[in-house]
Amino acid sequence: MISTKINEGINGIPNIPGDKSISHRSIIIPSISNGVCEINNILKSDDVLHTLNAFKNMGVRIEEKNQKLIIYGKGLNSLKEPKNEIYLGNSGTSARLLTGLLSAQKFKTVLIGDESLSKRPMKRISDPLNNMGAKIDITNGSLPLIIEGKNLNPSNINLEIPSAQIKSGLLLASLYINGETKITEYKITRDHTETMLQSFGANIDVEQINKKKQITIIGQKELQSQNIDVPNDLSSSSFFIVSALINKNSHLILKNINNNSSRNGILIALKKMGAKIELKNQRKNNNENVCDIEVISSKLNGCDLGQEFADLMIDEYPILSIAASFASSPSIFRGLKELRVKESDRLKLILLNLKNCGVDCKVENDNLYIYPSENYNVKNNIIRTDFDHRIAMSFCIMGTRVGPLRIDNEDSIRTSFPTFKEELNKLGGAVF
Ligand code: S3P
Repeated sequence: MISTKINEGINGIPNIPGDKSISHRSIIIPSISNGVCEINNILKSDDVLHTLNAFKNMGVRIEEKNQKLIIYGKGLNSLKEPKNEIYLGNSGTSARLLTGLLSAQKFKTVLIGDESLSKRPMKRISDPLNNMGAKIDITNGSLPLIIEGKNLNPSNINLEIPSAQIKSGLLLASLYINGETKITEYKITRDHTETMLQSFGANIDVEQINKKKQITIIGQKELQSQNIDVPNDLSSSSFFIVSALINKNSHLILKNINNNSSRNGILIALKKMGAKIELKNQRKNNNENVCDIEVISSKLNGCDLGQEFADLMIDEYPILSIAASFASSPSIFRGLKELRVKESDRLKLILLNLKNCGVDCKVENDNLYIYPSENYNVKNNIIRTDFDHRIAMSFCIMGTRVGPLRIDNEDSIRTSFPTFKEELNKLGGAVF
């Protein structure tokens, strides 16, 4: 895929796909609940389809009717032993959440993934589960995982690593425990799992005590299915938001976007940089905040973002770095350690690819420094992605200003936003 400079700006109303995090949970939770769940606007990307296939392989009846996904849930203990290993492709969310859920089943499962997922750290989820009585065998700290289902013990867990994937895996395991499990987190992580479990009638209580959040869950209560309307994904929107901000003559309206306060740091950060972004029609849908977003071309200034932003927008640093490259002053983004263990070492790839595009930048102590300039001389126009969808899409947006840039592998984009290229071209982008 090659992205080249555009002249006329980025304009229109893009079709943003359904939220990826909520889509995974919209398959997992109804599959272990009682009743029929109709899901509207689920994201049909590779990552989500891996979660979907996992549940089909565990005997859950899932059908598509009139553009909706229908899940026929038969309760907490209805999953069946899959005949084969469960392949999760590139999806870290599927891997962490399913490890929790499967550790409490009455059967054995083996989880495997693609090359990138097979390098990602899994002890962060298997260690706390093993402490709860699980039996998870792990190869060199990562996939494949061999999970022998066990009766887990009521536990008190402090989340050492701030991660919604770990928290969610532990919450799903706790649903099966005879007794009370307490999970305490000290930093904000996205809360879609708690929100959905509450609306499905789980025995769950969430308490904010100063900066810490304590979740108490009493297991073995059957869940009751609810219909779900998946809002559109803010992380996917952020590529187009930044493209409109950094290109002249641009004006976008993004509709029905999830604006959950545990993960909307990108909007706060961009506004801090002077972005003309307006949130309209703010409303609730399935207990999630939703809004429309209007964006127009803006003169951006640089900014200094502390570690607290990393908790609220970890997936958005690749695209924020592109925005910062067109600001009128330098930016510092602090505390980006977790960026190193995403679908790729994102900190390394942001640095490498920005430098290749001619941007002066450095990383010191997991802090990223970007020193923008008026014009860039691209030194090497081949963007290395290591099969990371967010790196691929971010540098495609970079190409709309400095192009032509050649993205080394565009297939990764299918993991979260299969229609990205068509949508960008519809808005006035030049990608082929
Ligand atoms: C996700 C949580 C985040 C995020 C990922 C999706 C989720 O990971 O980076 O893209 O759906 O729970 P961590 O919770 O591990 O930071």
